[in-house]
Amino acid sequence: MKSTVGPYTLVAKLGEGGMAEVFKAIKPGPGGFEKPLALKRILPPYHDRSDMISMFQTEAKIHSQLSHPKLLNLIDFFQEENSFVLVMEYFRSKNLSQVMLDARRQRILIPWQASLFICSELLEALQYAHNKKDANGPLRIVHRDISPQNILISEEGWVKLSDFGIALANIERDKTATGLFKGKVKYLSPEQIEKHSADYRSDLFSTGIVLYEMICGCHPFYAKSDFEIMNQITAGEYKKPAVLAPQVPQVIHNCIDKALSLNPEDRFQSAKEMRDNLLTAQELDWNQSGHSLLMGWLENIYKPDQMHNETPISSTVILGEQTRISKKQSYKWIPIFSMIAILGMLGMIVWYARLHLPSNTSSHVTSVGRSILRFSGQEGSTVYLNGKIIGKLPMQPYTVDPGSYVVLLVSPKKQTTIKEITLQAGDHTTVNQDP
Ligand SMILES: Nc1ncnc2c1ncn2[C@@H]1O[C@H](COP(=O)(O)OP(=O)(O)O)[C@@H](O)[C@H]1O
Ligand SMILES: [Mg+2]
Repeated sequence: MKSTVGPYTLVAKLGEGGMAEVFKAIKPGPGGFEKPLALKRILPPYHDRSDMISMFQTEAKIHSQLSHPKLLNLIDFFQEENSFVLVMEYFRSKNLSQVMLDARRQRILIPWQASLFICSELLEALQYAHNKKDANGPLRIVHRDISPQNILISEEGWVKLSDFGIALANIERDKTATGLFKGKVKYLSPEQIEKHSADYRSDLFSTGIVLYEMICGCHPFYAKSDFEIMNQITAGEYKKPAVLAPQVPQVIHNCIDKALSLNPEDRFQSAKEMRDNLLTAQELDWNQSGHSLLMGWLENIYKPDQMHNETPISSTVILGEQTRISKKQSYKWIPIFSMIAILGMLGMIVWYARLHLPSNTSSHVTSVGRSILRFSGQEGSTVYLNGKIIGKLPMQPYTVDPGSYVVLLVSPKKQTTIKEITLQAGDHTTVNQDP
């Protein structure tokens, strides 16, 4: 297994998105000097895709223009064999998506003052990027992928924006403005969906979604399919934060509603305007600053030395090596894979039949990478998942794909419990009926 890339030794995997993987690496120097850095490279299956390579090069070009304490700074960009590698500062952190999930598991919310702090740091990064100029004038950078996975938080409560993977800027605008949707569907702005266009106000819409999620503890747009989510976004259909989070100052509700306006003209007209507006809410609470509150809160929910996302390299498979198996070699495995697939299917059929023949409850098919839901509550209660009846209590564990779901438990006396949950691959979650 190869664990060096150029002059760098890979020590841990930090994350993987749709297109790239990120590693922690060290560059050894004299006298035991070891500088940790982060390396990002295109996932090996895409090494030959010219569109991916071009996007990656654009990411490097845009990122190279930027240097700010609230952004992950770019150090280098090079090619090794058939792969391109971005070298970035290493930021020991968890991303906001992981932090929100861990909070949900413990049934708590990030304190609202701390959420405002995270959002105001993000807005500071955006204000810098949106206004960045070079010798030829404004670069008009739009991030286009503002989402919790791209907001990193350190143990000390510092926040940085990452991932300019699909950003647009004047330097590369013609090349990257394809008709395709870019960005995560749940965080797209209405104009990204309807017109496939986005200016800096689109980033402010997505920032409004992230703030909503932190303050309300659920996503404003949830549905079974991407198509339905896009319909909700373009119709501006979401439960008002004033209803879901009445405990926070009204000015925050107003700020979220303004950020989520359908028409960009009705939103904040700059990251600075949105940040200034949020800071007026922070001033309502003089006791503690959002930053120290966030640090204290993180200390409470994470054990020491847990506030990072490193998986040691020895326990990960370096895909670059795996995919370098030659075509000839891979043909040898076809009969074996076919046998395993047939045996697996037979096993599934037997297992499915055993599960279903004696009782008639509901459908459960498990497979690796899916999540398991259990329900507990009064016998005879009806269980709805995203509006569909899936059975009555007591129920066997129910297997679903990772994603966001709304669970309704309706007791025989028609008392209703509503829970919104977000599941990642492999999660096991129990939904309890309210007493
Ligand atoms: N410089 C870094 N330091 C620490 N962790 C990082 C760094 N860059 C990325 N990560 C982690 O890797 C994940 C994926 O990185 P990202 O750049 O967003 O890749 P992608 O373009 O594939 O989405 C992030 O969510 C974050 O958890
Ligand atoms: Mg990302």
